[in-house]
Amino acid sequence: MTQNERTLAIIKPDAVADGHAGAILTLIEKAGFKILAMRMMHLNRQQAEGFYDVHRGKPFFESLVKFMTEGRIIVLALERENAILKWREVMGATNPVNAAEGTIRKLYGASIERNAAHGSDAPETADYELRYFFSSVDLLP
Ligand code: CMP
Repeated sequence: MTQNERTLAIIKPDAVADGHAGAILTLIEKAGFKILAMRMMHLNRQQAEGFYDVHRGKPFFESLVKFMTEGRIIVLALERENAILKWREVMGATNPVNAAEGTIRKLYGASIERNAAHGSDAPETADYELRYFFSSVDLLP
């Protein structure tokens, strides 16, 4: 039997501000994900820095934090078989220029930074990221 997996997804400030949240939620459901939990929030600097802690020190860190705090985001806990990989497929490559047709980043991303969506990249990061935004009661089956 195939095991369900969970991943953390974010609809980023660019996509929310541009009115693409509904279309992205539809893509999520069409791709067979169960939305376990969902939260709209406006990150402050400390929250954004904590979330992207692995990127601290990289040349794009400061700019990334500024972008992620510029407006509301939608944070989602998603579940399905192979959720981490599948969500990365639905999002497309980090840089919209390299993203496949029909993917979220191709459709709604403007640049490698303003790329409309985020997804966990491995089981360990998914764990960290899900716990960062949600408590255990939010994530009950
Ligand atoms: P995300 O999947 O949220 O993970 C880290 C984010 O940093 C990434 O999407 C981009 O928004 C951003 N990012 C990654 N690489 C670069 C880069 N080379 N220049 C600017 N932003 C980047």
